[in-house]
Amino acid sequence: MSNIIEIRGMSKRFGDLQAVDVMDLSIKRGEIFGLLGPNAAGKSTTIRLLSGIISMDAGKVDVAGFDLRSQMDDVKASIGYVAQFFALYPELTVMENLDFYSAIYSHINKEKKQTLLKTYGLHDMADQRAGLLSGGYKRRLSIACALSHDPELIFLDEPTAGIDPVTRKELWDQFYALAAEGKTLFVTTHYMEEAERCNQLAFLHHGKIVAQGSPLSLISGFTQRKIYKCPIRHDVQLAKILAQTKGVQVLNQFGEELRIIADNALELDDLKAVLFDFYAKNIDVELVKPTIEDVFIALTQEQQS
Ligand SMILES: Nc1ncnc2c1ncn2[C@@H]1O[C@H](COP(=O)(O)OP(=O)(O)O)[C@@H](O)[C@H]1O
Ligand SMILES: [Mg+2]
Repeated sequence: MSNIIEIRGMSKRFGDLQAVDVMDLSIKRGEIFGLLGPNAAGKSTTIRLLSGIISMDAGKVDVAGFDLRSQMDDVKASIGYVAQFFALYPELTVMENLDFYSAIYSHINKEKKQTLLKTYGLHDMADQRAGLLSGGYKRRLSIACALSHDPELIFLDEPTAGIDPVTRKELWDQFYALAAEGKTLFVTTHYMEEAERCNQLAFLHHGKIVAQGSPLSLISGFTQRKIYKCPIRHDVQLAKILAQTKGVQVLNQFGEELRIIADNALELDDLKAVLFDFYAKNIDVELVKPTIEDVFIALTQEQQS
């Protein structure tokens, strides 16, 4: 079977809130899959459902070839789970945490533990208390613990949230190394630079998948909008005028650059005319290719309107 995860009609409700709404999704073995979505979209709930931490209300799900409802023990032996929030024992040392996790799943030998600590840059810290590690090292230790039983599928819930860019890059190098070994990674994120590193993506909004595909196919399939770029600093007055301009949907300011997501009907010359009126000079507006961030913002906005 080439798909490691098959989700059909998975739903989960908390009281009145439909956290996951009739989800269908297939994930191929060996890929890095990214689940994107704004806060409260249902990303963590999806991971908790797929790893059997909470149970679904409806649906049929196969994980690693096992039925999620009836073969939970087999599913658990096949997966690793790195929670969004620090789930280690702060009073235990680095090595004691690793001992603890590996004892739950399978007693791995000393050599394997040393290899894991080395891989995650923790070998010099084996005797330090986990609670005293920096955020980046805590995250490395969580990942090492989740991998102690050598699972073929790893769920990583916002694995690099709040982590500095250098550590983030190092963690991604590890993720690629794991994928190269044939492991499947299921990652949630709202960093767009991270989304672009995934092989496949799905956008989640209010528990529903609103788009999916490879980063390139999502970008090339984004033909229902135009993206304009202009070298303009944030200006409250201009933002008001643009917000009222027909066809303008979203303004996204990046330092000295303003990106405008617009209807296809908004022509370059129309936009130039608005800017000319405001600045009394020509502004260098460019129609540009969308980025994953543009796609993400536009899709989220579309769902809200
Ligand atoms: N155990 C729970 N009880 C009630 N509501 C919950 C529970 N877990 C999550 N939710 C709600 O479900 C929605 C989705 O949450 P979550 O999956 O954590 O979103 P995300 O990870 O995308 O930020 C949120 O509105 C959240 O408040
Ligand atoms: Mg979450």
